[in-house]
Amino acid sequence: MAEGEPVRRTAPAKLNLYLHVVGRRDDGYHLLDTLFAFCAVGDVIEVAPADALSLVVEGPFAAGLTAGDDNLVLRAARALSVRCNGRGARLRLIKNLPVAAGLGGGSADAAATLHALSALWQAPFDEAALSALAAPLGADVPACLRGRVAFAGGIGDVLVDAPSLPPCGVVLCNPGKALRTPDVFARRLGAFSTSQRFATAGRDAAALAAILRNRRNDLTPGAVSLDPGIAEVLIALERGAGCRLARMSGSGATCFALFDDAEAAEAAARVIAAAHPGWWCVATRICDR
Ligand code: C5P
Repeated sequence: MAEGEPVRRTAPAKLNLYLHVVGRRDDGYHLLDTLFAFCAVGDVIEVAPADALSLVVEGPFAAGLTAGDDNLVLRAARALSVRCNGRGARLRLIKNLPVAAGLGGGSADAAATLHALSALWQAPFDEAALSALAAPLGADVPACLRGRVAFAGGIGDVLVDAPSLPPCGVVLCNPGKALRTPDVFARRLGAFSTSQRFATAGRDAAALAAILRNRRNDLTPGAVSLDPGIAEVLIALERGAGCRLARMSGSGATCFALFDDAEAAEAAARVIAAAHPGWWCVATRICDR
C-alpha cells in the first residue's frame, strides 16, 4: 500500500442460517445457538490518512444512519485509535444494505472498519486482539470480524468454525421497516430451544436446506408480530421457482432464500422485485472468506 492511499474493505451481509434461543442471562441478553454465513453483497468502508477521525455516510441506505458519535463505525475506529497512539483517519461508509435489518449491517461495518484501519495504520493486532476490541461494540461484531461460516454460542460471540457450505444462490428480501433488535428479542415467548449443530453441510443447496429445515429462527414470530410484512416476504420467497428454503435472518426483517445457483436466485429476485417494487430484493450468493 502506497503512503496516503485509501484502504477499502467490504462489510458482507451476515445471515443467520438458523437461530435458536437456548436461554437467557441475568443481564437480559439471550443465549444462542446460531449458524453465521456471509454473502457476496455488502457495505463498503474506505479509510484514508488524516489527523483526526471523521466519517461520511453515502449510498442507497445512507439516510437510515447518522454519522454521529454513536455510529458503530466511529466507535470501532475510536476503540482502535486509542490503542494506536490516537491516530486519525477519514472514513467513508457506502451503505448498500438496509439498516436495522437482521443482516448485521452495523456490526459488519464496525468489523470492516477494524480491518481497514489495522491495514492503514499497520497495527500489529492479530484476530484475537481485534476480536477483544470488537466484542463490546455488539454481539455480532466478532462473527463479522472473522467473516467465515461459524457456529456461535454464548450471546453470539463464542465462535467455532462450521463445516464448509455448498455453493448456493441467495435472494435477500426486506419489506422496508427497520426493526430494533431489543424489541424483537423482547417478544420471544415459550420454552427455550436446544442447540442443534451439525457436522457436514451437504453437497448442494438442496442437502443444506434439508438440514436447515429441521432448525428455525426462534425470533421470527416476534418479528412478524412487529411487522406482518415479513410473513408476506417469506411467502413470496417460498413461491420463487427453485427456492429450497426461506427464512428470516437475525432479528429481521430481512429474509433469505436458498437456491441451487446464482442464476436461479437472480430469476426469482427479478420476479419478486417486479411484483413488490417497495421491497428491497437482491440476488447474491454465500461467500466464505
Ligand atoms: O449486542 P447488540 O448491540 O447487538 O444487541 C442489541 C440488543 O439485542 C441487546 O441490548 C439485547 O436487548 C438484544 N440481544 C439479546 N441477546 C443477544 C443479542 C442481542 O437479547 N444474544
